[in-house]
Amino acid sequence: MTAPRLEIDLDKIQHNAHALVGLLAARRISVTGVMKATLGSPAIAEALIRAGVRTLGDSHIESIEAMRRAGLRATMILLRSPMLSQVHRVVANADISFNTELEVISRLSLAAQEARRTHGIVLMVELGDLREGIMPGDLEDIARQVLLFPNIVLRGIGANLACRSGVSPDPRNMAELSALADRVETQLSLTLDIVSGGNSANLNWAFSDADAGRINDLRLGEAILLGRETLRRQPIAGLHTDAICLVAEVIESKVKPSLPWGDIAQSAFGEMPAAIDRGRLSQTILAVGRQDTDPDGLRPPPGIEILAASSDHLIASTGRNHISVGAEIRFQMNYSALIRSMTSPFVAKVSKHRCPASVAAGGILRTIDATSELGGGGQSSKFSQRQGLDNNMKESPCNSTS
Ligand SMILES: Cc1ncc(COP(=O)(O)O)c(C=O)c1O
Repeated sequence: MTAPRLEIDLDKIQHNAHALVGLLAARRISVTGVMKATLGSPAIAEALIRAGVRTLGDSHIESIEAMRRAGLRATMILLRSPMLSQVHRVVANADISFNTELEVISRLSLAAQEARRTHGIVLMVELGDLREGIMPGDLEDIARQVLLFPNIVLRGIGANLACRSGVSPDPRNMAELSALADRVETQLSLTLDIVSGGNSANLNWAFSDADAGRINDLRLGEAILLGRETLRRQPIAGLHTDAICLVAEVIESKVKPSLPWGDIAQSAFGEMPAAIDRGRLSQTILAVGRQDTDPDGLRPPPGIEILAASSDHLIASTGRNHISVGAEIRFQMNYSALIRSMTSPFVAKVSKHRCPASVAAGGILRTIDATSELGGGGQSSKFSQRQGLDNNMKESPCNSTS
C-alpha cells in the first residue's frame, strides 16, 4: 500500500465520539464535533453523526463547503470569525458563525439578505486566554446591536480557552460565562440557546463536580480524534488514543557513526546538530519529513528513536535491529503532527471501517475493508513479516487502547 499514509480507524473515532457524547449528555452538555484537523472529511463526519453528534464545526469555510457537498445532515458552525472576503460563502454554507466584530456581522447581514437566508451568530467572549473574544463588559451592548441586523439571529455566546495562553477552564471562568448568558438574557429579554464553554481543554472541568451552570455545548476535536484532554494531554479513560496513525516506509537502512564529520554549520532547518557520540548506530531513513508532518509530534514504536528530520527524510535509530528497505513503521501522533499530515498532499489518507464501505471523502479518504490488509491480526502479521522485528515492535501501537 502507498506510503506515507494516515490510517484512520473510523470505528475508533466513532467510539470516542459516542463515549464523549454520552458522558457529557449526563451533564446536559452537547458535543459540537470539530472537523478542522480532518479538513472536513465527510467519512469522519459521518462517523461522528453515527455517534450522536448533531453539530459540526470547522474554522475553514472550505471544509464546511466540502461537508455540505457531501450532503451531511448536521448543523454547521464556522468556528473562526468570518473574513469579510468570505461572508457570502459563510452565509451560503454555515448555519451559524462565531463572531467578535460588529463590522463582520453587518456584512453577514447584508449577505444573508441578498441570499434570502437567516444566519445565526454566537458571540465569543474573552475570558483571559487572549485569543478571540469580546471583553465581558462590552458584551451586552454588542448583543443589543446584533439584534438590530436584518436576517441575523443571536443564537448564543461562547468562549475559547487554553489555545493562545494555556488558560485553563475552571469553575470561576465557566461561572462567569454562565452569568454573562443570564445577564444578556435578562437585559435583552431573549433566550440564548447556545452557551458554548470551550474545547477539549474543558473536559477535566466538565467531568468534575463543578456546576455546569448554563454551559450546554463543548466543541471537541482532539479529544475525539486522539482520545486525550488537552491541558496535560492525558488519555481519557475508555477512549482510543490510536484512532489515527502515520505509516511511513523505509528507504535506507545502514549502520553509521552517530557523529557527523567535517566543518559543522547549520542544518537545513537552521539547527546546530547535537554532538553526542553514541558510537555506531543502526540508522533508518523513512520517506516522510517536515513537509508531511511534525516530526516532534510522532511517537515511534518501542525500540525505535527519532534522531532528526529534514523536509522529506525522517532519520531514526533502530538500536541493534536492522529494518529492511521497504518495511513500514507506524507512528502515533500528536495534534500538530496530525494536522500537518492531514494537510499534506503527499500523505495518503486511508480509512477503515467495520463494514466495507465506499465513502469517498472529499477525494482524500479511501475506505477499505477492515478484514483485508488493515484487519487486527492481519495488520501485525504483515508488519512483522515485512520487518522481521523483535516482539516489541510487532506489537503495533495502533492495536492498543489506552
Ligand atoms: C474555536 C474553537 N473551538 C474548538 C476547537 C477544538 O479544539 P480541540 O481540538 O482542542 O477540542 C478549536 C480548535 O480546533 C477552536 O478554534
